[in-house]
Amino acid sequence: MAAAPDKPDHQRPELPDFWDKRFRDGTTPWDAGRVPAALQAFAAAEAARDAAGEARRALIPGCGSAYEAALLGRLGWAVTALDFSAAAVEAARRTLGGWGGTLLQADFFVHRPDAPYALVYERAFLCALPRQLWPGYGERMAELLEAGGRLAGFYFFSEEPKGPPFGISRAALDALLQPWFDLEAEAEVADSMGPFTGRERWMVWRRR
Ligand SMILES: C[S@@+](CC[C@H](N)C(=O)[O-])C[C@H]1O[C@@H](n2cnc3c(N)ncnc32)[C@H](O)[C@@H]1O
Repeated sequence: MAAAPDKPDHQRPELPDFWDKRFRDGTTPWDAGRVPAALQAFAAAEAARDAAGEARRALIPGCGSAYEAALLGRLGWAVTALDFSAAAVEAARRTLGGWGGTLLQADFFVHRPDAPYALVYERAFLCALPRQLWPGYGERMAELLEAGGRLAGFYFFSEEPKGPPFGISRAALDALLQPWFDLEAEAEVADSMGPFTGRERWMVWRRR
């Protein structure tokens, strides 16, 4: 018989219950309430349509309140925002209103889209995952993106053992992503909030 977990579900960040409780209690210190400047600049410089005039596909995994989905949608991207927490999806629905994109309650690790994405946007998602789930992250991102597609967003660097947010080292992030991705750009972040301040970087990784 499997051993009973030593913590209740709402204290286990690998489960939706953990995030449901925080959204329902209004304890969401990661929630920026706005679109980060680096994504705004990146999105403004990107073509939202491909050569055939089709909207390019973007995914926001662990979308939370999903402010970024509205921006990408306004710019013409075909956006899928997903989160496995029902309360997070409710929060995203409040942000997005009568939005024309796709909002899913789904687990990133089992999401199987009809077609690969041109862009995956990362913010406070890898650092929401307990470290034992990280080995699957790079491979999953690689499966979700088309060749030449980009994984763009914010990565939180910290050696602090406790989380979330679970920080990563630069060497560990490189080991997760370099088997499939080349780093195309990176920059300091000027508008970080709370625990991320001074410890996150904007990065753009290109799928080979
Ligand atoms: C720290 S919050 C960040 C939310 C949002 N990205 C933001 O920047 O405000 C992490 C989010 O990831 C979601 N999440 C965690 N593990 C997930 C998984 N395996 N599949 C889908 N969503 C997940 C949680 O429900 C939560 O909404």
